[in-house]
Amino acid sequence: MKMLRKAVFPVAGLGTRFLPATKAMPKEMLTIVDRPLIQYAVEEALEAGIEQLIFVTGRNKTALEDHFDIAYELEAVMKGRGKSLDILAGTRLPAGAIASVRQQEPLGLGHAIWCAREIVGDEPFAVLLPDDLMVGRSGRPGCLAQMVEAYERVGGNIVCVEQVPPEKSASYGIITPGARDGPLTEVRGLVEKPKPEEAPSNLGIVGRYILQPEVMRVLDNPVRGAGGEIQLTDAMAQLIGRQPFHGLTVEAERHDCGDKIGFVKANLALALKREDVAPAIRAFIATLQ
Ligand code: UTP
Repeated sequence: MKMLRKAVFPVAGLGTRFLPATKAMPKEMLTIVDRPLIQYAVEEALEAGIEQLIFVTGRNKTALEDHFDIAYELEAVMKGRGKSLDILAGTRLPAGAIASVRQQEPLGLGHAIWCAREIVGDEPFAVLLPDDLMVGRSGRPGCLAQMVEAYERVGGNIVCVEQVPPEKSASYGIITPGARDGPLTEVRGLVEKPKPEEAPSNLGIVGRYILQPEVMRVLDNPVRGAGGEIQLTDAMAQLIGRQPFHGLTVEAERHDCGDKIGFVKANLALALKREDVAPAIRAFIATLQ
């Protein structure tokens, strides 16, 4: 089994559900407490042992790369004022750790992943969608680290799954479940955005994947799926039966930050976990009731 060293961050979407905030700014730069979504996802990947981070970007997305670069002017001013630079530690990565490619047209998640094929090469890779913010439950490692633990046992392809309300099935890729082994469920089939009456289960895929490079060969011959987009789910479905394929239920809290309600909830939930701001936020909430 090849070690997992690379992770793809598809960040070329237009973020239309979050307009007008995302008109001139990438959705992944939206801030939860004091860090942009992309930083949470990058920190989760590094914790899981990822060494190479591949951003699939689009126009107007340079802020994402700049966020992980050195800001000389800012640092000079901060030093001059005697301020510590420790706050920037999470934005400093080893030289060459980030590579980026452009997806010129937002043709869908499957197409975005395929744009990274030359950098991924012949290796397994993780995919992290930064707008799904995952927080490991008390004392547990992050979501991708839990998936890597499972990957080291069963190999193949692993998608992160969670129970979704039946009426929301059309917002997710849904798995046809096979045998269960604790938090692992064998994947027998996959369908993207099914109507509730056609959903094969209530286990929906959320924004974390560990995939084998063969999925890129499937994406070499793309098919337009749900919504006219090139869907990753359709390409992954072609691997079932050829390679091990599991869904993993992780011990993590998920916040869908691609949606305004999820985003506001995430800000509150994470603020309440932070010692520096929690007391003030709790006191403020009390005044609202
Ligand atoms: P979403 O379905 O959330 O699409 O994509 P979106 O365009 O970002 O947002 P809405 O629905 O218009 O509000 C899921 C992930 O896939 C990436 C997005 O950046 C996001 O991380 N994506 C999607 C791409 O990189 N390229 C695409 O063509 C589509």
